[in-house]
Amino acid sequence: MANAGVIDAGAIAVKDGRIAAVGPAAEIMKNWDGILWEFPDCCIVPGLIDCHSHPIFAGSRVHEFTMRTQGATYEEIHQAGGGINSTVQATRAADTSALKALTRRNLRCALMHGTTTLEAKSGYGLNCEEEIRELSILRELGQELPLDIAVTFLGAHAVPSEYAGRAGDYLDMLVEKVFPVLKMEGLADWVDIFCEQGIFEVEQSIKYLKAAQAWGFKLRAHAEEFHHLGSAVEIAKLGAYSVDHLMALTEADIELLLSTNAVCVLMPCTSFFLGSESYAPGRRMIDAGLCVALGTDFNAGSTMSFSMQMAMSLAVLRLKFTPEEALIAATANSAHSMGISDRVGSLEAGKQADFLIVDVRDYREWPYRFGENLVNKVFKKGVEVIGNTLWMKI
Ligand code: NIG
Ligand code: FE
Repeated sequence: MANAGVIDAGAIAVKDGRIAAVGPAAEIMKNWDGILWEFPDCCIVPGLIDCHSHPIFAGSRVHEFTMRTQGATYEEIHQAGGGINSTVQATRAADTSALKALTRRNLRCALMHGTTTLEAKSGYGLNCEEEIRELSILRELGQELPLDIAVTFLGAHAVPSEYAGRAGDYLDMLVEKVFPVLKMEGLADWVDIFCEQGIFEVEQSIKYLKAAQAWGFKLRAHAEEFHHLGSAVEIAKLGAYSVDHLMALTEADIELLLSTNAVCVLMPCTSFFLGSESYAPGRRMIDAGLCVALGTDFNAGSTMSFSMQMAMSLAVLRLKFTPEEALIAATANSAHSMGISDRVGSLEAGKQADFLIVDVRDYREWPYRFGENLVNKVFKKGVEVIGNTLWMKI
């Protein structure tokens, strides 16, 4: 992760939506007779890959945002019936076209900020019909927008009020009733669970994830977000592609994770947005040799930002990554956590031509200019899908 492979005065040749060649401009130009675009004083970087997001929901939790300024914590709000379950109510009540429009708006925002591949979870329906509705909308939007979307079933996001006090029964219902439909209709390739104190216990989560695996789903999971339960290691041992959040990860866990293949997905925007001082031990994880990726965790309650650029800035400022490490975590490693690093995540001949023109002379200035959208253009499969005209007119 220490070497981003930067090429000074470089060029990228694109043909039929794929990268044909990358290298010093002088070399690439010798064999090029196609159209030429020049971007002086800019960087060309791979499209960002957000490997953890919750983009489909209705309603607003802005009141919780304000409550937190008065001292309420995310977990207290959840226990009092707010949090995830309040978004579930609003989402169930939204009609399908409104819900699709809201989600489309969120996804466009991700694209505008340079995300070209995205993992998107359901999880605000919490019953068979509603979860299927969310997954279907995500699938449709993936076909409609110039964004590759990997769809994850997160029916195990919280225990719905209908199953209060019966978390195990709820999970059994998901396995028996929902998994078969997902498989039959091809609605999701991935299954995730929120393993957390007061939500789903480690033992329940493992049983559920094993059932998902038996149905042929690939696994990722919310683990060690607020309390240390020993979930990350247990879930990684099952063969999960990623364990996500990890704010409460311990030194012993780091050692044990080294013998698994799971990517550690860190989302510093969540700690930041919750006003928490608890960040995942990212520096230590990289030094130990773990594969670390970045995601936004975009959702109504704990992270209201779809900016992977902000995630990179916070990775540098709070997790103590170098700018190189932040860039690799947000691209190649993120792709790896989704099992698609053969296709996207770096600028290499043969890969999909998903890349960004970023308005900085030196790529290290990207996370340095925090909280700003410096993406000038977004190219998806070789086609310009976002052009930042603002820059051009002033
Ligand atoms: O990743 N942790 C669980 N899910 C989200 C929060 C969702 C919500 O609050 O609506 C998260 O932080
Ligand atoms: Fe999440």
